[in-house]
Amino acid sequence: MDNSQETMQPQKVFPTQNKANPWHLIDYAHTAPDDFVIPEGHWPGFDIEGLDRGQRVRLNQLATVFMCEMFVHFEEYIVRFVERHKPRLTAHIREDKLDRFIEEEVDHINAFYALLKLFRPDEYPTSCLRMLKWSSADDFLVKTASIPAFFFTAALFEEMTLYVVDVMNEDPTQSFAPVHSVMELHAKEEKSHVGIDNHLLRQTARERPRIVFLSQIALSLPIIVYSNLALTRSWNRQARDFGRREGLSRAQTRRIAKRGLSSSDKLGLENFFRKQRKLAVPGGRAMSRLLELFTL
Ligand SMILES: [Fe+2]
Ligand SMILES: [Fe+2]
Repeated sequence: MDNSQETMQPQKVFPTQNKANPWHLIDYAHTAPDDFVIPEGHWPGFDIEGLDRGQRVRLNQLATVFMCEMFVHFEEYIVRFVERHKPRLTAHIREDKLDRFIEEEVDHINAFYALLKLFRPDEYPTSCLRMLKWSSADDFLVKTASIPAFFFTAALFEEMTLYVVDVMNEDPTQSFAPVHSVMELHAKEEKSHVGIDNHLLRQTARERPRIVFLSQIALSLPIIVYSNLALTRSWNRQARDFGRREGLSRAQTRRIAKRGLSSSDKLGLENFFRKQRKLAVPGGRAMSRLLELFTL
């Protein structure tokens, strides 16, 4: 059942009134161009024979829209988890830091919605996702995940969002200004979020018996697998609809569905594994090694 309306706190995704907020300086008053908005090479799996330029541009924009939905979906996880478990979290981190963390995530959610509305004004009349729906399983996860399982997963996701702007900087001719501005500011703020995730991992590792911490961090694996399945299912649907709309062959549609990692995903994963090796919390290296085997 889609209970996103029930559990969402819509007041959280309205723009704040703080004029000093750098997010208010981003100019969304553009229409989507008839061009690539993120360098085409960002998704190497889209190098598919037989697609004309128009189709490649539309695929590039579809993948960008999907990425914005994905970022909103995962940031909602973080907002909901931190709000729900705040009393437990403030035993490990100052409350004002947590509040700032949440405020920033709400700014990010608003920014990604602004991009979604820019690309598809008819499909996003309100701040509600269309491709990734919040489910009762997501609620269960937010309710029951431990701090180590949740923040190991959050560190992985947040690290993977950092490098989109680097890819865009490599080819400004295929970088649409509003997307670039959002990705640039997002990456800047996310760096401190990754620091908070790792701080919470270090603190809980220090305070909990090793065996407890190990079993808790190991439970990030089903969370990651579940999230990845939800993403894959949704992207497969987008690929099928795109293939139908564009009159593509089954082989072409299958290639789109199995697009593989983007270049920023790859950079994010490599850096996440490197940081986890350095952090050296119990089980962190083994979990990273396991993920490395299945991803890179
Ligand atoms: Fe964020
Ligand atoms: Fe974040």
